Amino acid sequence: MKIQMAWSPKSLQELATQSVAILLTEDFTPADYAAVSTIVATDVATFLEHKKFKGCAGSMVTLPVIHEKKTIKFFFVGLGKKEDGVLNIETYRRALGTLITTAQAKHLESLSFVMPAAEQFGLESAFFAQQTGSILEIAGYKYDAHVSKKADAPADLAVTVSYQGSDATQAVKGFDAGHIIAQAVNRERDWVNTPPSRLTPTHIADMAQELAQEHGLQCTIFDGKKIKELGMEGLHGVSRGSHQDPRFVILEYKAKHADAQTIGFVGKGITFDSGGLSIKPADSMEEMKEDMAGAGSVINSIVALAQLQPNVNIVAVAAITENLIGPDALKPGDILKFYNGKTAEVRNTDAEGRLVLADALSYVTKNYKLDAVIDIATLTGACIYAVGPFFSALLSDNPKLSDLVKAAGERSGDKVWALPFTSDFKTAIKSEVADMQNIGNRSIAAGTITAAWFLHEFVENKTPWVHLDIASSAYNVPNISYYRSGATGSSVRLLIDLAMNWKA
Ligand code: BES
Ligand code: MN
Ligand code: ZN
Repeated sequence: MKIQMAWSPKSLQELATQSVAILLTEDFTPADYAAVSTIVATDVATFLEHKKFKGCAGSMVTLPVIHEKKTIKFFFVGLGKKEDGVLNIETYRRALGTLITTAQAKHLESLSFVMPAAEQFGLESAFFAQQTGSILEIAGYKYDAHVSKKADAPADLAVTVSYQGSDATQAVKGFDAGHIIAQAVNRERDWVNTPPSRLTPTHIADMAQELAQEHGLQCTIFDGKKIKELGMEGLHGVSRGSHQDPRFVILEYKAKHADAQTIGFVGKGITFDSGGLSIKPADSMEEMKEDMAGAGSVINSIVALAQLQPNVNIVAVAAITENLIGPDALKPGDILKFYNGKTAEVRNTDAEGRLVLADALSYVTKNYKLDAVIDIATLTGACIYAVGPFFSALLSDNPKLSDLVKAAGERSGDKVWALPFTSDFKTAIKSEVADMQNIGNRSIAAGTITAAWFLHEFVENKTPWVHLDIASSAYNVPNISYYRSGATGSSVRLLIDLAMNWKA
């Protein structure tokens, strides 16, 4: 099931698609749906009244009309009302999500609509077109690679966005950027959705290398032997329970300006998390193929950025392995020494994400001169309860970088919520036998925060740091029309936005 996107200066009448969407706000007037009468003569006013359609957020009604022996479907989609003088962009995203999923469910082949004016949303046309392009394609994504009954599958849907504004040149650039963003989000979703025995550490590394070549990124990959030699006992330790060789992937994007700043992206890449010897109960293990979402996010974000060319250098690193059980598996009680020389007592082998991230964070902050580092990880189950599915959790001791990340989250729609990060929580990871322990003391229950304090120990050279726990948002987010079930690609939109809007 595919979705094809096009941008056109033609009117809806000229486009003559099988279906047409009319986007209406709560204060709509007949002039707002006048385009319908250029296509076919039908009494829209009576229909909308009969259906009690008021343009409310989340509402949509379908009007099929027979015209020259063919059916044209008109979708009337609600955009809600203005608040503080502007329409809500998230309402628009979800309206497009509902539109696309409905059109696909109805097996339609073509759809067109006129892009609303960006200024109603208080936004620039380029950005608005970028959001339009990206969300249509994100909404069109469905993981069906292994469904054999293709007969029932919806046809490929061709969506044409009609736009006749005077700033169309800017808007079309934004629309194209939206396509690049959506490709990255959907590729990340494909990786996360891929069954865990197919998506092995070497497979991710190979795909990263291929993408790097295609898009002109510098790519360095360490195998298990090299990881061990470098003293990355965290990544090596977790990999010991599996016969799959681990990988440490480094991708680099260089901005054109020689004096550009540099941001580090760090991703957790556990291709399957069984919990190790501290094994997970069956229910909690069911979705643990999602545990490489951080690695997928940083790799796919930098691939998009290679195409979008922001004025900031990016270094993306991903620590990739499986957390399984084997004769040489890590044991509770083991002590590991990480890349920066610090040690930790492994009390629970299921707290493996922080072990692989410890090496990745210390490697990137020691070997690169970074102006900021952001790590992305499906790190704690506690995060799901702390912030719920509509946010990723943000933890940081740097208010300035936190504000930049929050702003990128707001703009892109890939939202974060900050949890407290005071030093009171740090005592939770004290150990009697090592520099720290890999689980928080029970008396300081906040698992998402204590995990972040563990990571904090590995941020070298006082690099401004933000940790994003995406365990809440990476998979099966309900109620958001453009996500559907499975992987969401959360944090990809945010990272791309952050880099594109980076100002030193
Ligand atoms: N990968 C899990 C966290 C997770 C849970 C991600 C649910 C997505 C959905 C992580 O490795 C883990 O197992 N964390 C433990 C930590 C605990 C042992 C301190 C957890 O949250 O239970
Ligand atoms: Mn785990
Ligand atoms: Zn995990």
